[in-house]
Amino acid sequence: MLGNFTYHNPTRLHFGEQALEELAGELKEYGSRVLLVYGGGSIKRYGLYDQVVEVLKKSGKEIFEVPDVMPNPTVDKLYEGCAAAKAADVDLILAVGGGSVCDYAKAVSVSAWCEEDPWEKYYLRMEEPDNQIIPVGCILTMVGTGSEMNGGSVITNPTQKRKIGHVFGSNVMPRFTILNPALTFTVPLRQMSAGIYDAFNHICEQYFSGQDDNTTDYLAEGLMCSLIVSSRRALKDPKDYEARSNIMWAATWALNTLLAMGKSTDWEVHMIGQAVGAYTDATHGMTLSAVSLPYYRKILPDGLPKFARFAANVWGIDARGKSQEELALAGLDAMKGWMQELGVALDLRQLGVKEEMLEGIADGTFLLTGGYRTLTRQDVIEILRESLEGENV
Ligand code: NZQ
Ligand code: ZN
Repeated sequence: MLGNFTYHNPTRLHFGEQALEELAGELKEYGSRVLLVYGGGSIKRYGLYDQVVEVLKKSGKEIFEVPDVMPNPTVDKLYEGCAAAKAADVDLILAVGGGSVCDYAKAVSVSAWCEEDPWEKYYLRMEEPDNQIIPVGCILTMVGTGSEMNGGSVITNPTQKRKIGHVFGSNVMPRFTILNPALTFTVPLRQMSAGIYDAFNHICEQYFSGQDDNTTDYLAEGLMCSLIVSSRRALKDPKDYEARSNIMWAATWALNTLLAMGKSTDWEVHMIGQAVGAYTDATHGMTLSAVSLPYYRKILPDGLPKFARFAANVWGIDARGKSQEELALAGLDAMKGWMQELGVALDLRQLGVKEEMLEGIADGTFLLTGGYRTLTRQDVIEILRESLEGENV
């Protein structure tokens, strides 16, 4: 293991079909005023809203609400949540939903009592909070982002055409999260696949960095294998509890800081995907799937041993009789085959990207240095164009 690091994750997880029973115990630790934040209606449609409100009322809580948190939450919605949290002086923000709702709750948590503009402070200047932080708890209904056990919070500014994530510290991570895999049964198939690919790519972003032999990489391979097996089962039967519970657990560990230990980490697929998201408002996991293959093909020569290892250890490809490069390419082909099974987007056109957006998307892409190659702006344009022209498919 290289580098110096501290591992600490304060989020308490309650996992399983009965996990909601643990909510009342968690609520005892906070004051009486709770801001309930949720999305566009799925939690009301499937009965979870009523169950949560009942627990809150039985626990003697006064409930304030911010409904309609959209996928890829916007900065205007953030301002609305800040005003609500501040006016009610809430003691806890309870997020009930997917990654967007959890991310949003964290953004409100650090922004409500912030005297500056939170978009400028946290997202443009990347500063850390120096004001009161409101505790957050989550009840997760859609799997993929890892937001339930990390400090990530991604906000979109549609006017500025920027989608930016800030990874806050452990003081902002959810204090607790309820993970009931059965809640994910109602997630539409397309969202399920996007979430699975998102989680898989989180692992890739951390795995494809570094040259050393590192325990974290073996953990990453195990999680990837589990996601592949369980996703195939879930595609056949979305109500397969064993598969959905494995996907939920793997997705949480894919991005809860563990796999970054001792790694420089890449994250360039996410940087390109977020820039695409700022222009299209497309589903996050689909923005990643559409640019992954051209990106990995481009950097493959720089990280050849790791790509060959990925082919052998994750996809079970027989190395015998193959050069390292042939093995590495066979691994990417196997990944592409699995992406096709999942039905995730492999080209940007189907996400609404047009040729005239490419320059702006490239401008909005942060170029990071932790992976096997630091891209140039021209590299980004080439990756986008390859995807747009459907050379993946
Ligand atoms: O709004 P409702 O009606 O609830 O519908 C949602 C939404 O339309 C629906 N949904 C959620 N649970 C459901 C359900 N529908 C039926 N049954 C259920 N049980 O799913 C749709 C998508 O939800 P969303 O929360 O947007 O999806 P996801 O979990 O993929 O979150 C995406 C956001 O997370 C950010 C992304 O950029 C994006 O903004 N990310 C956060 C990260 C982090 N915190 O570390 C990292 C990720 O890389 C990602 O960037
Ligand atoms: Zn992601």
